[in-house]
Amino acid sequence: QNIHVQVVRDQTAGGLAGFKVFQDALEHGAQVLGLATGSTPVTIYDELTASELDFSHLTSINLDEYVGLPATHPQSYHYFMQEHLFNAKPFAHSFVPDGMNPNAEDETQLYEALIKANPIDLQLLGLGQNGHIGFNEPGTAPDSITHKVALTASTIAANARFFENQDEVPRYAYSMGIGTILKAKQILIVAYGAAKADAVAAMLQGPVTPDVPASYLQTHPNVHVILDQAAASKL
Ligand code: GLP
Repeated sequence: QNIHVQVVRDQTAGGLAGFKVFQDALEHGAQVLGLATGSTPVTIYDELTASELDFSHLTSINLDEYVGLPATHPQSYHYFMQEHLFNAKPFAHSFVPDGMNPNAEDETQLYEALIKANPIDLQLLGLGQNGHIGFNEPGTAPDSITHKVALTASTIAANARFFENQDEVPRYAYSMGIGTILKAKQILIVAYGAAKADAVAAMLQGPVTPDVPASYLQTHPNVHVILDQAAASKL
C-alpha cells in the first residue's frame, strides 16, 4: 500500500507519531525536510524541539508564506517557524518563500529552482477543511509548481482566528504547487478534529480530483497519514 493511515488518540499522541516518522527519515539519511505551518504540526515540532535530534547539518524548505507579511509579523510563516522550531533547533539552511518580494514570478521561480536543487526527502503537510494542501486551493492543477495563490473565502475565514479581524488576513500567498509537493520522496500528512473529517474521507476514499487537492496524494508512492479519531470518523 502506498498510503499508510495511523489513527491516534489526540494531538499529543499525533506529535509523538509524527516525531517518529521524522526520526525514521533522518535515520535513513534524509537531508532536506519540507515543513508546514498551521496548528496541526505544532505538537510534532514540540517533540522535535524536546528531542536530541540535530538539524544543524540539514536543510528545511517550507511550503508557503502569506504575500505582504514581513518575517517579523507574528502571523507570518517565517515567524511561526522561528517560534515553533528554528529558535530551538536551527538548520544549516532554512527557506520560506519571501512574502515581501513584490515580484511573484521572480519569487516563485527562485523557490521552485531551490527545491529542484534540494529535493525534499520528507514533506510534512496539514490539511485544509476544503481539502487544500499548502495553499493549493480546490481547482489547482496536479502539475502546478510554486505559484502565487488567491486564498478562498473559506481559507480566509478559517485563518481569521489568528488575526485581529478578517480584513487583516492576507488575500494572497506564495505556495509550492501540487506538482512540487508530489516530488517529495515521502509525505507525512496530519489532520485533527471533526472539521477535517470530510476532507480526510475525500482525500483517501474519494476520486482523484482537482476539487480536492489532497486527493492527489493517492498518486504518490509513499504517504503516511496521522489522524485523530474525529478526523478519521468518516472513513
Ligand atoms: C493553512 C495552511 C496549511 C494548513 C491549513 C490547516 O491554510 N496554509 O498549510 O495545513 O491552514 O491549518 P490547521 O493546521 O491550523 O488546521
